Amino acid sequence: MHIVALQGRGDLLEWRDAARRLFVAGLAPEQLDWRIAGEGGLFGAQPLPPLPATRPAPRVPRAFLDIAETVVCHADAGRFALLYRLLFRLQDDGTLLSMAADVDVAAAWRMTKAVRRDCHKMTAFVRFREAPEGARRRFVAWFEPDHHIVARTAPFFARRFADMDWMILTPKGSAALDDGALTISDAPAAKPDLEDPTDALWLTYYASIFNPARLKVKAMQSEMPRKYWRNLPEAALIPDLIAGAPARVAAMAQQQAHIPPVFHDRIQARRAWDQRDVSPPPGTMAALREAARSCTRCPLHCAATQTVFGEGPDSAALMIVGEQPGDREDLAGRPFVGPAGDVFDRSISEAGIDRAAIYVTNAVKHFKHEPRGKRRLHKTPDAGEIEHCRWWLDQEIALVKPKLVVAMGATALFALTGEKGRLSDLRGQRLRLEGGRELLVTVHPAYLLRLPDAERAAAETAGFRADLAEARRRLAQLRETPIAPPVPAWMEPAPGGA
Ligand code: URA
Repeated sequence: MHIVALQGRGDLLEWRDAARRLFVAGLAPEQLDWRIAGEGGLFGAQPLPPLPATRPAPRVPRAFLDIAETVVCHADAGRFALLYRLLFRLQDDGTLLSMAADVDVAAAWRMTKAVRRDCHKMTAFVRFREAPEGARRRFVAWFEPDHHIVARTAPFFARRFADMDWMILTPKGSAALDDGALTISDAPAAKPDLEDPTDALWLTYYASIFNPARLKVKAMQSEMPRKYWRNLPEAALIPDLIAGAPARVAAMAQQQAHIPPVFHDRIQARRAWDQRDVSPPPGTMAALREAARSCTRCPLHCAATQTVFGEGPDSAALMIVGEQPGDREDLAGRPFVGPAGDVFDRSISEAGIDRAAIYVTNAVKHFKHEPRGKRRLHKTPDAGEIEHCRWWLDQEIALVKPKLVVAMGATALFALTGEKGRLSDLRGQRLRLEGGRELLVTVHPAYLLRLPDAERAAAETAGFRADLAEARRRLAQLRETPIAPPVPAWMEPAPGGA
């Protein structure tokens, strides 16, 4: 048995030189007993064989050197024998390292992982303290790594703390940066006795940045294992910080400033309005509008910002009825001011109708929607909701007494007539409402916005405008004709109807 002794302080070149000589000398792994200086048992260690050119040097893939560079840093006494075995086996099988299940390969990967983790912990947990003596400011840290990683991590600290003089002492060697020059020593260092007056400051800082609401004890303990605590000044605070976290979270929640939702101002305004002393005279449009502000006839009022009541002159001859307010209308408190409102405005103006002269309202007065992320998506009101809201629409018609009503879309048609028929069957007909008023039916402007085909959208928009133009023409005729006596059946066509 050939006894080989190495310093074993994480130096790849030392092992590489020994391995090359032993390999060229023809020594097989089982003939070698690797020992480490300072760890006892060096008795009988033999000098390394010379390097004669009798046998070619071993050839290995680049990946092996990367693994070897890390594995030599591991503290396991068997690391050199393991690497030599891998070196030997790689001569016969160059793909060996890709066999993750191989015992030697798996052991090498385990060691690599452990060394990398140790390096990561060192970069995270080294705490410098100012050393008192000397003309220049110097900082000293004590760290206890599991493996021989000082030389490996020193360049990180040299880059990170390039503008100060420092020294990191460990039982496995030390590193120092002095006026920009990095030196590394293998010699085990002793723990310095360091008191830093700024320690108290650091502890106060640490305690104040500790966020109890983000505490995850398990994750914290795996990231900062207890074995590192003895060299971390802040570790003394951790048990109390953990114990006090739930109470602090509760206190934080209580003190949290609640940012009002966007519609808060409007709800406040609605309250203020409701609490006014002066009420408009009963039986007027103003009184009806005010009563509608606090409507709770159906659950839609809960999620809506406010009631969106109809608007226009109290005695308008033409009333146009839509479905329900959309997102923009809900916030503005006015009907048809969003995208569908733009189409509506353009179309009535092209049809020669002045919006200021007509009464515009909706079948349902609250915005029905469903939250999707930050957006509120429109939902069609159901028959029950339309029925509940019809009370308001009936009151609006009774007060405004329009000569002609235009229903835009199926919801308006249902609200005005109770009819669920197809719009296309009724479009173009002059229908009758109770009280003898005439009703024309057309599509809803939002329908035009949803049409994907440009040609179809253009045709439908033209049809919508034609319906509105027809409404204007019919209104002009109706202004000259007294309203016909009440006819109960709305389906009965008006005289002269199509
Ligand atoms: N759609 C409607 O039916 N009414 C509005 O007020 C807005 C969009």
